[in-house]
Amino acid sequence: MKAGAAARLRVFADLEAMSQAAADLFVSLSRDALASKGRFAVAFSGGTTPRRFLSLLATSPYQERITWASMYIFWADERCVPRGHPDSNYKLVHEALLSKVPIPEENIHWINGEKKPEQAAREYEDSLRQFFETQSFPVFDLIILGVGVDGHTASLFPGTTAVHERTRIALPVYAEVPKPDRVTLTLPVLNNASQVLFLASGREKGAVLHEILEDGNPKHFPAGLVRPVHGWLTWMIDRGAASLLAERTFPR
Ligand code: 6PG
Repeated sequence: MKAGAAARLRVFADLEAMSQAAADLFVSLSRDALASKGRFAVAFSGGTTPRRFLSLLATSPYQERITWASMYIFWADERCVPRGHPDSNYKLVHEALLSKVPIPEENIHWINGEKKPEQAAREYEDSLRQFFETQSFPVFDLIILGVGVDGHTASLFPGTTAVHERTRIALPVYAEVPKPDRVTLTLPVLNNASQVLFLASGREKGAVLHEILEDGNPKHFPAGLVRPVHGWLTWMIDRGAASLLAERTFPR
């Protein structure tokens, strides 16, 4: 894996084992952040992969190990659809987790996908500046990301201008990619996090993971450009997603 000292790769037998390890890591990071800062600020992504992990957090023994009142929830990206829409990332996290745990409503900082993308992005930037009390890039305690077969992460798609953004915190993403429009955190924000956790499952992710983790990311896939400047990068993937990685890359 061509990554710095602060990067690690863990391969699991299946989605279930990976989701459990992600839930364990989440609990442990939330406790560390609570001890050092008195709060834990985390951004979730959408997609199918994190659903099991999110559900686990809402169940025993994870739910009771988390101090929900000190947990602040954000999103790495959102689709511009109503909150009840099946494509809504808010809906995913709300259904699987937030509706089942005692988290104060005011701790949930969702991206308003019902607004026009630029307005939703600007409002999200304002709420991030306010919460993190900075005019610069926020430092999330944890950002959880996925990777598409095309190498996108959050809503940063290959070949789009959003990937090159260096000053904005969040951006609208228009129809360069299939509808719906979206709002995404930018790379400088992802790379400013204390911890970034990628979750990837399934053989269809094999080729892109080989390019990113073993081949130096020659096509500059956005997911491979996530390299936290001061923080940790963890990839948790299952055997299917690891199917094109060389044996030496990870202990089986
Ligand atoms: C989204 C995402 C996106 C996702 C990847 C992986 O809302 O679409 O945030 O970046 O994480 O597309 O999705 P899967 O988990 O479905 O493979």
